[in-house]
Amino acid sequence: MTVSSAPGKVYLFGEHAVVYGEPAVPCAIERRATVTAKARDDDRLRVQTQDLTLDGFSVEYGDGVLNADVDVPRPLVEAAVGYVDGAIDQVRDVADENVGFTITIESDIPLGAGLGSSAAVVVAAIDAATREIGIELSPTEIADRAYRVEYDVQDGQASRADTFCSAMGGAVRVEGDDCRPIENASRLPFVIGYDGGTGDTGALVSGVRSLREEYDFAADTVRTVGDIVRVGERALAEGDIHKIGQLMDFNHGLLSALGVSSRSLDAMVWAARDADALGAKLTGAGGGGCIVALDESPSTATALSYTPGCEEAFRAELDRDGVRVEA
Ligand code: PMV
Repeated sequence: MTVSSAPGKVYLFGEHAVVYGEPAVPCAIERRATVTAKARDDDRLRVQTQDLTLDGFSVEYGDGVLNADVDVPRPLVEAAVGYVDGAIDQVRDVADENVGFTITIESDIPLGAGLGSSAAVVVAAIDAATREIGIELSPTEIADRAYRVEYDVQDGQASRADTFCSAMGGAVRVEGDDCRPIENASRLPFVIGYDGGTGDTGALVSGVRSLREEYDFAADTVRTVGDIVRVGERALAEGDIHKIGQLMDFNHGLLSALGVSSRSLDAMVWAARDADALGAKLTGAGGGGCIVALDESPSTATALSYTPGCEEAFRAELDRDGVRVEA
């Protein structure tokens, strides 16, 4: 039995624009998905999970039949199983044989809410299952294989941001296929607000694409997000946390202009700013899910927890550890 974990992430800057070749800076956070892999005598895959959103399910998925003894929306179960199934396909590709596993997932990362939950599960699953059969992959190889899984499951609409960040940990820079860690990133005291919902990433990405094709302002806005990322990278290297916060505010305004914010995300962003956070923005695809604010003091998390529309608020520092073996 092998246990590995991998972190979720927030976008400090650059979601959506990254789809059009602009740089983005995702940052790993101290919220992890933990995956246990146990090799089986047969070639089947059994997946079990209990997490915040899925209330626990158990499926047998090896003969093309999905039997879930669950009371959660079927698409969510199928998506979760699809990611694990894809991860195990990668492991079988590395092993060059049809190995079977029982996979158990525990996660404290809200699902589908802009915190990279699926990437963390895929990264941890590839690491745990390969180690279980005596193979050790490098974090960059795990990132690459996890990206292929996300790309397939999300019908080609995935950047490398989530999977690279989760495998490597810390703050990273992603620009097309060029992914690299940002060394010496300053401390980042994140506060996260979660509205309990999810955004439809495919629909939101398509919406921005249409807007960009129809209006020059939208194409300019995407380029301006890229400018913010470039300035933000310098602020991160200099440890200028006030400037980072200001740039997060700018980035949120531009994402709103692109139509990907929502009433609850805006309410949480403003609650964080009113509580003197240094800056706040939505993270990920938008439409619902999470915001990320920057604040040294506990006041932002407290203010968020009293904000209508906020289901959960928590602090999470930048996590410098990427994927790691736990047992
Ligand atoms: O919501 P998430 O964490 O899956 O992030 C989506 C980010 C986008 O830039 C909108 C799409 C992508 O794959 O980069």
